[in-house]
Amino acid sequence: MTHDPTLLPILESAWRMLTLASADPRHGLHWPVLASAALDGGPDARTVVLRAVDTDTRTLQVHSDTDTGKLAQLARDPRVCLVFHDGPARTQLRARGRARIHVGDPVAQIAWQRLPAHSRALYAGVERFAVLAIGVEHLDWLLLDPTGHRRAGFDWPAGQPRAVSLRP
Ligand SMILES: Cc1cc2nc3c(=O)[nH]c(=O)nc-3n(C[C@H](O)[C@H](O)[C@H](O)COP(=O)(O)O)c2cc1C
Repeated sequence: MTHDPTLLPILESAWRMLTLASADPRHGLHWPVLASAALDGGPDARTVVLRAVDTDTRTLQVHSDTDTGKLAQLARDPRVCLVFHDGPARTQLRARGRARIHVGDPVAQIAWQRLPAHSRALYAGVERFAVLAIGVEHLDWLLLDPTGHRRAGFDWPAGQPRAVSLRP
């Protein structure tokens, strides 16, 4: 597969959509499914909220409770896949990468301060609050188009995005 720079506007649009979605609960991409490896090596997945996006570092943030099963899983194997679906835009995004767990550090403290009171109340204190910072290593984009589905993949082998056209 060869690098196709004409696909790079799709990547820019995908990051734009994710950034908008992180601030908008009505956006379909606000509610991805986070897949990880269970402790027995099998698959596991659950719905989460996309909380923040940093396009410069290609990082997606999700919040969680330190007591959840996914935290134990990610401490053992940080590899994850976030699956997003935007129905009206007929678009699926799959972001594969690695999750860093932040508890009680400046990343977690900043996120905690930004949380509204009703969201903080969901946690038994800041010490139980975790930020999962997922560094995206591969992004798969799929557009369901009645005239022919389109798919593209992006990864970052040398910091610069590499784009390839994929079969749907
Ligand atoms: C709409 C929706 C949003 C959710 N958002 C989150 C979230 O942002 N973080 C989280 O830890 N769990 C969230 N959950 C709960 C998870 O899906 C899951 O049930 C819980 O985190 C325990 O998963 P685990 O045992 O795999 O860690 C959400 C559930 C739903 C239905």
